[in-house]
Amino acid sequence: MPDKKVIHMNAYAIPEISENVFWVGSKDWNRRLFDALIPLPQGTTYNAYFVKGNEKTALIDSVNPGFEKELEGKIEQISSVKDLDYLVMNHAEPDHSGSIPYILNLAPKAVLVTTEKGAKMATMYHNIPQERMMIVKQGDSLDLGGKTLKFVEAPWLHWPETMFTFLEEDRVLFSCDFFGAHTAFGFYDDDVEDLISLAKRYFGEIMMPFKGLGKKGLEKARELDPLIIAPSHGPLYRNPERIFEAYSDWTVGKTKEKVIIPYVSMWNSTENMVKVIVETLIAEGIEVCLYNLANADIGDIAKDLVDSRGIVVGTPTLLGGMHPLALNAVNLAKVLRPPFKYAAALSSYGWGGGALNQLQKILETTKLEIVGAVDVNGPCKEEDFDKVRELGMELARKIKEDSE
Ligand code: FEO
Repeated sequence: MPDKKVIHMNAYAIPEISENVFWVGSKDWNRRLFDALIPLPQGTTYNAYFVKGNEKTALIDSVNPGFEKELEGKIEQISSVKDLDYLVMNHAEPDHSGSIPYILNLAPKAVLVTTEKGAKMATMYHNIPQERMMIVKQGDSLDLGGKTLKFVEAPWLHWPETMFTFLEEDRVLFSCDFFGAHTAFGFYDDDVEDLISLAKRYFGEIMMPFKGLGKKGLEKARELDPLIIAPSHGPLYRNPERIFEAYSDWTVGKTKEKVIIPYVSMWNSTENMVKVIVETLIAEGIEVCLYNLANADIGDIAKDLVDSRGIVVGTPTLLGGMHPLALNAVNLAKVLRPPFKYAAALSSYGWGGGALNQLQKILETTKLEIVGAVDVNGPCKEEDFDKVRELGMELARKIKEDSE
């Protein structure tokens, strides 16, 4: 009987992205949720990189817990893990820092390189002793022998401790979450047809609340003039201008003549009003993104919040307040801090209202201008639809006025 085919664990794919710079990350093809909140229809990646200088070696970030042995196996294909000199931690969130203790255990002389805030987090999360850490500041660099790592502070992209690492000779920018996308597919940007859409979804979910600092981060990244952007999630950009251009719109909150409509309906009253406002807005030349919250993917909603100028929320009253799905969506939209300017509400109730009052109270705590609301008792009548049409026309007028 022939031997079973054995897959040797030294057969990992470790693409060399520049001379002596290797991708040693992991693809998490089957993961479907991040932060117990964000759907991942295409899985994700935890990109880590190994830089081999003439004298020293460095690992840039690590991988999610559960992938430690894979990371070890990949590094072993290049150089013995026990000889590792530096482990650069650009960001302390465990999807990148989770395997640091495992690697530091195997590499007795390796030092963790991070910002001051990163050092505190490394202690909090992983009990890394001070003597195994090197704190770096904006502009500091580390010479590996023919490979120089320069550190660029990039706070709040995505946490307060975050930094970028730039490999000067090869002009590779390791940007961690910034410029990332949740997908396990493809390796370089030109492999993935809908990458900008995936990157936009990621921006909406992760970076949009910090877009002011994102603008600064983008300026720093542009100044470095990278040949390759190597983020920690999703494909690497060997055409950096592609993602720079997208981020230059998203980080300044550039909006389109576009309205996002998240809604939920129980007995069709709210849905019938939503249908009328959709037709009114489209007839006025406004782009509409409609999401029935009973089955919507909130990652798609986050993507369309990035450049919508208006939002219409549709919700029935349920037990004296908003339907919980609408409440959840509105709270999420609020904390993601999208750049939209105008809001309208469509609500309905059977015997006692409450949804509209609750929604208005939430919207009043934002900078949104509330253009109007229609609240209907029971099934919609023709005069209710007239009010919805008027509201749609007024919303369209305001949205178009902003483009002038
Ligand atoms: Fe991919 Fe903020 O961690």
